[in-house]
Amino acid sequence: MVVELGPGTGAFTAEIQRRLGGRGHHMAVEINPRLAEFLAARNPGVDVVVDDAARLPQLLRERGFERADAIVSGLPWAAFSAETQARLLDAVIAIMGPHTAFTTFAYSFAKRLPPAQRFRKRLIDTFEEVVAGRTVWGNLPPAFVYHVRRPRAEAVTRT
Ligand SMILES: C[S@@+](CC[C@H](N)C(=O)[O-])C[C@H]1O[C@@H](n2cnc3c(N)ncnc32)[C@H](O)[C@@H]1O
Repeated sequence: MVVELGPGTGAFTAEIQRRLGGRGHHMAVEINPRLAEFLAARNPGVDVVVDDAARLPQLLRERGFERADAIVSGLPWAAFSAETQARLLDAVIAIMGPHTAFTTFAYSFAKRLPPAQRFRKRLIDTFEEVVAGRTVWGNLPPAFVYHVRRPRAEAVTRT
């Protein structure tokens, strides 16, 4: 089960589909109905859901799953309030097992802005493993990926 959050126009969607090569279940949760419609038309193999990513545990359960194997996020965490960051991250934690890989991108130019710093601190406080990848200068604007695993026990009991 690969869960994609905030797929937008589908740049990550197409790559996930390519790597899955017809295997597994790819659920993409997009809150904007117009983007979701565009995405579903272009990616018939993807289970596109128009919903808030905060409802991840229910969405997975409706499909007979408790946990995701991989979570790929395109959500703009640095644009969210502290409350929204916490609510969405709690939903992510709730569908993570000990081997789930959670990856989420961030823009390099925004690294030092308070909401981005707050999100980084929240990741470090919440997970045992947080690795920031290299800046991809070819992306416009340049961006990097956080590779995250293993929610801390305190974070899991909180959700
Ligand atoms: C930065 S864009 C996605 C980038 C994406 N990789 C692309 O190629 O377009 C963020 C997306 O997250 C969606 N989004 C924002 N809040 C959301 C939420 N709570 N649940 C699901 N999707 C959300 C937005 O509608 C938007 O499409």
